[in-house]
Amino acid sequence: MKFAVFASGNGSNLQAIIDAVKAGNIKAELAMVFSDNRKAFALERAKVAGIPTLCLVRKDYATPQSYDRDIVIHLKDAGIDFIVMAGYMKLLTPFFIKEFPNKIINIHPSLLPSFKGMQGIKDAFTYGAKVTGVTVHFVDDKMDHGPIIAQETVKIEEGETLAGLEEKIHKVEHVIYPKAVALFAEGRLKISGRRVDVK
Ligand code: GAR
Repeated sequence: MKFAVFASGNGSNLQAIIDAVKAGNIKAELAMVFSDNRKAFALERAKVAGIPTLCLVRKDYATPQSYDRDIVIHLKDAGIDFIVMAGYMKLLTPFFIKEFPNKIINIHPSLLPSFKGMQGIKDAFTYGAKVTGVTVHFVDDKMDHGPIIAQETVKIEEGETLAGLEEKIHKVEHVIYPKAVALFAEGRLKISGRRVDVK
């Protein structure tokens, strides 16, 4: 099985996945790193690891549909079987999602369905939540919504800073995400309705 990681920024989750593939913990080939942002540090991480990269910029396309159509062509050409979103900050179009049904997974830095959106960590922090966490889920046509694969809680302690909380969340992400990708690659995730069971 071949997979692609989509990342828009730093790529620390990408790095955790690269390391897990190298260690033999994810039994699939990381065949492409895609970014919508030429300056994404994720692209540097991929180059260092010798992974082919592709960067296409949304503003070079007339519509979100034409952008996604072009990305899908590249993915199919590269023989990509599934996609791992790791801090990809663009919404996929319904067309894209239909091309890879139940074959796209995402990580979100909150306990979904709470604190969806671009700033999950900050939103939980400013809301005053005492507990937040990390969710790995399948991607469907609604934002941060598909069936949940894995979740882990993170406590927000008294006197905690936002930077401290971000660090704690990322640490959990870097453990939980490679594990979930490994389960997917081994075909061990079974979806029934909103439930995902591990075989
Ligand atoms: C991660 O915290 C990920 O959960 C979040 O972006 C960050 C990317 O960090 N994703 C979302 O908020 C998606 N809604 P990274 O580039 O260092 O992996």
